[in-house]
Amino acid sequence: MENPDSNLAFNPEEAHHKALMLKRIGVITSGGDSPGMNPAIRSIVRTGVNLGIEVVGIQNGYQGIFDREFMPLGVMEVSGRIRDAGTILSTSRCLQFKEEKYQIEAIDILKKENIQALLVLGGDGSLAGAAALSKLGFRVLGLPCSIDNDLSATEMSIGVDSCLNTIVHLIDMIKATAASHNRCFIVEVMGRNHGYLALMSAIASGSQIAVIPEFRYDMDQIIENLTRRRLRRHNNSVVVVAEGACSGQEFMDRLKKAGGDKLQQEIRLTVLGHLQRGSPPTFSDRFLATRMGEFAVLALNQGEHGSMVGLLRNRMHLTDLNEIKGHRPPLPADAIRLARNLGMEIGVPSET
Ligand code: ADP
Ligand code: F6P
Repeated sequence: MENPDSNLAFNPEEAHHKALMLKRIGVITSGGDSPGMNPAIRSIVRTGVNLGIEVVGIQNGYQGIFDREFMPLGVMEVSGRIRDAGTILSTSRCLQFKEEKYQIEAIDILKKENIQALLVLGGDGSLAGAAALSKLGFRVLGLPCSIDNDLSATEMSIGVDSCLNTIVHLIDMIKATAASHNRCFIVEVMGRNHGYLALMSAIASGSQIAVIPEFRYDMDQIIENLTRRRLRRHNNSVVVVAEGACSGQEFMDRLKKAGGDKLQQEIRLTVLGHLQRGSPPTFSDRFLATRMGEFAVLALNQGEHGSMVGLLRNRMHLTDLNEIKGHRPPLPADAIRLARNLGMEIGVPSET
């Protein structure tokens, strides 16, 4: 079937009919968990069963390879998991895996376990690990799982939608009490190096300011925006701060020092923390994870490897893992325009 928008060398429609290439594959979740990892694992297992491929779950990210924590996964092991947050495989940060000698050892262990290929579910760090395994000749495919949405070659990573829904829900609740008390709330959200969560949640929650690492903010402008709002008799305001820009506490201190006390509004801080990662996956995340999981197994089974599955213009794409490493996507230009046209204060790009 023609697939003009896709970069695929293989046809997923035919993948079921071709001779099976793989007998046993592994799957790991690594780095920060994200809602949708479980639906992705379930989809991988069910597709594997359908194709006659045994799927082995490896516990605790890359660390589980060294600890030989291998767990064969069948339909019953993933039953009901489409609804669950977190990852049934557990995840970890395994620092030694950054060293080549440990990557070689890991491949050795995987081969001894008769694991012919590995699916890595994680963010940019975990996928850098996948790229390293691939470079050493092991078959790997990556699935983008990160609430930060900081991976290139996919418009959406697994977990982002659930996380944003949680943030917006929590800000709605903060706004309710802020309005009762005539307060200005600083809300710190996640996003290690990327302002996507802060920008998008600020737009969707009707917040006034987004402080993001990609942009320089001007405190005078922020105070002016908040003052204007109060003079229009709005009895609350919310500033969403991405942790990658600065901590909420740091921002609050600077705001107060710069004259925030003249706002005639009490300024309070809420750090949303890990609540943001723990919600059950939304429909969008379940569907995306299920699509990506199925697609990854079909692709592996057709001989594809060394790439990450991505969503571009609502189609599945494969992009070389080496092209993803170190390439952070820019914030969506239309979201920046949208924020400005809504009267939000977001600052100016840092490099200008
Ligand atoms: P995330 O995948 O969510 O971005 P991390 O950046 O913490 O999370 O990375 C998770 C794990 O991926 C690390 O603990 C390590 O095991 C592995 N990893 C990270 N960077 C590399 C790298 N450059 N080379 C090999 N493995 C890496
Ligand atoms: O990269 C995903 C992420 O959730 C970041 O937004 C956040 O800074 C980090 O992980 C938190 O990691 P940890 O679970 O180690 O606190």
